[in-house]
Amino acid sequence: MTKRIRKAVLPVAGLGTRFLPATKAVPKEMLTIVDRPVVQHVVDEARAAGIEHFIFVTGRNKAVIEDHFDMAYELDDTLAKRNKVKELEALKHDLPAAGATSFTRQQAPLGLGHAVWCAREIVGDEPFALLLPDMLHYSQGKGCLAEMIEAYDRHGGNHIAVAPVPDDQTHQYGIVGVEDAKAKVSKITGMVEKPPKGTAPSNLHISGRYILQPTIFNLLANQEKGAGGEIQLTDSMIALSHQEPFFAVRFDGEIYDAGSKIGFLAANVAYALDRSDLGPQLRAEIEKLLDR
Ligand code: G1P
Repeated sequence: MTKRIRKAVLPVAGLGTRFLPATKAVPKEMLTIVDRPVVQHVVDEARAAGIEHFIFVTGRNKAVIEDHFDMAYELDDTLAKRNKVKELEALKHDLPAAGATSFTRQQAPLGLGHAVWCAREIVGDEPFALLLPDMLHYSQGKGCLAEMIEAYDRHGGNHIAVAPVPDDQTHQYGIVGVEDAKAKVSKITGMVEKPPKGTAPSNLHISGRYILQPTIFNLLANQEKGAGGEIQLTDSMIALSHQEPFFAVRFDGEIYDAGSKIGFLAANVAYALDRSDLGPQLRAEIEKLLDR
């Protein structure tokens, strides 16, 4: 029997320098993909996978994320008085249960490994999910994390979502080698964080969804610096893969890096085109624009 995955960690402390000046006062995770903040899309994916507790690793200037996942009493009251039933219901639906969110701060930007380590006390001694909010995993099916939890229920151990990237982009990501690149779930044979150009063991990148055993925290505690002078999660995962089973779950949906301008814009268009209230009109607008 595997232990159920109940908790998800969402590192949201990044400065968002790629989006300045938009992110001077607004956290990058609160920029919207259509009408939902980036981080809300990722929480939606985690909820669809059965996650019950959301642990946000925040930093200074991120308080608005906490407000977003809290009840907005005055807003609810005004909407009720104006009989805005649909809007009220939508807000109620999105609101996490009382006590289902935790917030802890990463005091200094020392890397992803350090951000995850900051969640150790709240995660405790159980396997957990980790979702990088910049990376949007769009699927018509049950969602990336739900697919991973299915794989975890069958195999136990640790899992990371992977997907192919063009060969000239492998140096921007964590890259994994797998036993069978075509299989939906495959044993990992190696991992490397941001391999120099031409040295990647494959073109499968770590796409930002993980299921990890709590043993990772002991390894992260060493706080050794890796690629880019940061405490890298991948380095501790490599050490963990020598001790425990580690699997790659191939994600076949679309992935948008909402932390890059092009990825963010493409995600907005893709998510809006899929909406019945916006898609047809937007399509017509795009066609007009392309004819300019
Ligand atoms: C992080 C991880 C990397 C992963 C990437 C996905 O890198 O360290 O392994 O491929 O997220 O976005 P970062 O984007 O923080 O440099």
